[in-house]
Amino acid sequence: LRLKLERVDFNFADLPTKDRYKLLVGAIVPRPIAWVSTLNENASVNLAPFSAFNYMGDDPGVIAFSPHPSKHTFQNVEREGEFVVNLVTHALSEAMNVTAIDFPAGVSELEHIGVTTAPSIQIRTPRVNESPVNLECRVHTIVPIGNTRVVVAQVLHYHIKDEFLNREKMYVNTLELDLIGRFGGTSQYVTMRESFSVPRVTYQQWLERSGEGKT
Ligand SMILES: Cc1cc2nc3c(=O)[nH]c(=O)nc-3n(C[C@H](O)[C@H](O)[C@H](O)COP(=O)(O)O)c2cc1C
Repeated sequence: LRLKLERVDFNFADLPTKDRYKLLVGAIVPRPIAWVSTLNENASVNLAPFSAFNYMGDDPGVIAFSPHPSKHTFQNVEREGEFVVNLVTHALSEAMNVTAIDFPAGVSELEHIGVTTAPSIQIRTPRVNESPVNLECRVHTIVPIGNTRVVVAQVLHYHIKDEFLNREKMYVNTLELDLIGRFGGTSQYVTMRESFSVPRVTYQQWLERSGEGKT
């Protein structure tokens, strides 16, 4: 009689790339979406979504994202050394999706989706007006690992629509932003309209609560 196996495991080196992708993106959720604007060689604006993206640090502000080296975004970022991360609201999801179409090099997706751009302050690459938050970024390092490229960048300038910021406390009203996340690898997304609170506990509070430390 065989015991029921409780887990299946994989040596990633034995798997085809598409299966590694499916296993990773099916479990690493939700992923925020960087809607990245870059400058094409002819100075038109390229815009494309990337969910291999996250916050990495605050001293200085650092983010990272991973465009495949075949993508125009990667080539533009490598050549120009700068880009803007525009965050994606639920209302922008259809427009964002169109920018994932494989347009020919030098064609600006923006004309096709009715979003507008505004100039950035510290870099040449414009930002997306309709996004509530824009991060002007300068490339710090591009880390090559096989066919993966991780673009590590410093956030130079931060734009947020004032209705979403408590200026006094510097709190972002994250729920009101109504951003979306990628959920899995197919066409699934999540909204973030619900949140719950798990307050941080100090070591002292933890000792008191658990009854440890009492003599
Ligand atoms: C929500 C979403 C997330 C995506 N994330 C990535 C990603 O992290 N890396 C990547 O190489 N492509 C990703 N893609 C695919 C690119 O957006 C797509 O290939 C796009 O056409 C690239 O445009 P470009 O060649 O102008 O850079 C994603 C697509 C969607 C819809």
